[in-house]
Amino acid sequence: AQTPVKVSIHADQAKNKISKEIYGQFSEHLGTCIYGGLWVGENSPIPNIKGYRTDVFNALKDLQVPVMRWPGGCFADEYHWMDGIGPKEKRAKMVNNNWGGVVEDNSFGTHEFLNLCEMLGCEPYISGNVGSGSVEEMAKWVEYMTSDGESPMANLRRQNGREKPWNVKFFGVGNESWGCGGNMTADYYSDIYRRYSTYCRDFGSNHLYKIASGASDYDYNWTDVLMKKIGDKMKAVSLHYYTCKGWSGSKGSATKFTPEEYLWTVTKAAEIEDVIKKHIAIMDKYDPKNKIDLLVDEWGTWWDQEPGSHPGFLYQQNTMRDAMVAALSLNIFNKYSERVKMANIAQVVNVLQAMILTDGPKMVLTPTYYVFKMYKGHMDATELPLDVQCAELTYNDKKVPAVSVSASKNAKGGILITMANLDKDNAQTVDVDLSNLKVSKVSGTILTGKGIDSYNTFDKPDEVKPAEFKGAKLTKTGMIVTLPAKSIVALEM
Ligand code: AHR
Repeated sequence: AQTPVKVSIHADQAKNKISKEIYGQFSEHLGTCIYGGLWVGENSPIPNIKGYRTDVFNALKDLQVPVMRWPGGCFADEYHWMDGIGPKEKRAKMVNNNWGGVVEDNSFGTHEFLNLCEMLGCEPYISGNVGSGSVEEMAKWVEYMTSDGESPMANLRRQNGREKPWNVKFFGVGNESWGCGGNMTADYYSDIYRRYSTYCRDFGSNHLYKIASGASDYDYNWTDVLMKKIGDKMKAVSLHYYTCKGWSGSKGSATKFTPEEYLWTVTKAAEIEDVIKKHIAIMDKYDPKNKIDLLVDEWGTWWDQEPGSHPGFLYQQNTMRDAMVAALSLNIFNKYSERVKMANIAQVVNVLQAMILTDGPKMVLTPTYYVFKMYKGHMDATELPLDVQCAELTYNDKKVPAVSVSASKNAKGGILITMANLDKDNAQTVDVDLSNLKVSKVSGTILTGKGIDSYNTFDKPDEVKPAEFKGAKLTKTGMIVTLPAKSIVALEM
């Protein structure tokens, strides 16, 4: 039998709000994320609301998506926004050089994206083009979206049917500027950032929250240089971290993996905690008052794309293993909510670790979607610090605690505890000390599957779906929870 896991919740030490934007999404003009995923157009036989496919829209509405990043990714640094406004039949076409070399007809542009965000009630996060765009082009985009004045861009927007400006807070000045966004050095990008960001103006009551294009993974020097050189000019710096085996060769199948590959996956996903800590330590050095935020604006699993899918479309299946990565990562982001104020999983539909997969008129929700749904209650709640004592899973020299836990308290006093038993073979008994909290009843939801490789298909959409969880029993001082192997549980009190 396993030694019981001990969880102590220190409600008396609670101080940080879990920014709802940690539960953010990322949408790129990549594969069928936009076309076929979010957007089918008004004339499609696929049921739609003003061109947005109804099934996907409703699923996202239910998730209460807080923020969505667009139009990339790598695509953002080749995107020329003016090609995506005005009458659709007149919009310029382009080749999507980054993703599959397909023709992009620009039928989904600024209006279509910002209107979608309004309809979903989420904040838009725009990624501006630094790599191949001009300062003027970026400045005019901000003006077009947010100015209510008598100005050429505001008038052009009005001419295109939108009288009032949109609210756009989150604005990224470039994406992966060390790579697909221009192959710049940290010094060069910092100088460029100063220039581009100067002309991203605040119009009227719209205040931009400017985001510098941050590091990938272990590139601590990038964060150091940006903090030193442009710390006074940005509101946040981003970080990208994928659970990915490498950038050349096979990344492994999304659905067929060995027990060792599973252990690699969870230990690699867990390593983001160390990466976050190290980037935060650098930020603390330059910004001890915590004024600059860290945004993990791309994260998730990256496997070989599904056999037979269009090259460059990054379409992958999503199993219970991916759900484990989501549960573990979100628990980690919550823990660092003092500095980590946003995270955007890559990507919302049909790309990488997606919430939703579509095929023509068919749609299926992935295990990852359900994790986001079960974790919704953490959004904007106060994080409750906690300790977990448990056995570890190991892969070579890498380790991860077998049970990952996060807890929060919302404004109404409701408590949410999310737990993931990463051990795919053994159940765990978890002894939770709640002596600092008044708890009178508990209800729960569980996500698990027949195997760690279980997944949903269009024909079998319910292989992995949440069910009522009855394995939590309140005691005098807390609660005893029996977590089945490979399960994710959300407990509400
Ligand atoms: O999410 C896919 C790609 O990964 C993005 O376009 C890019 O920013 C990153 O390398």
